[in-house]
Amino acid sequence: MKKILLPILVFILLTLQVYGEYDKDAVVKAMRNNLTQLKAMKAAAANKDFDAAAEAIWALADGMKSVRGFTPLKGTATGWANTIDELVAAAYKGIGACGEKDIGKLKGAIAELGSFARKGHNQFRVK
Ligand code: HEM
Repeated sequence: MKKILLPILVFILLTLQVYGEYDKDAVVKAMRNNLTQLKAMKAAAANKDFDAAAEAIWALADGMKSVRGFTPLKGTATGWANTIDELVAAAYKGIGACGEKDIGKLKGAIAELGSFARKGHNQFRVK
């Protein structure tokens, strides 16, 4: 019996370490930042200000990366992390478009980033 307890304890500790507890305040902060940055990148795109657009895109991705390790109250921790990885990949597309000064690509990437709100909320937000 004793032999089995240690592996179980190690497993529990590892799981806790890999997927942290849900921090509501941190998630709400990241979400409000998402709204702010989405507005900022749309305004920047309208002015063809590629530097400001790239900054806003990275600020959104950075905020979401900061909550990537949490276990959501709804859905799985792996699904949550994968969704955030996809969002970061979309952010890189947007930043790439800024580098190329390609306004069509930039607007497409902004629309894709915005579409993560519905996707994320359907899967992970408790109604
Ligand atoms: C990128 C576009 C997104 C925008 C603009 C956005 C915006 C928001 C806003 C405004 C809230 C309400 C915050 C408040 O209470 O004041 C919220 C909540 C929430 N969002 Fe997002 N979101 C986005 C993407 C995502 C993604 C990708 C996920 C999941 C991976 C997600 C998961 C959640 C969750 C779980 C809540 C509830 C937080 C809580 O009260 O515990 N959102 N979001």
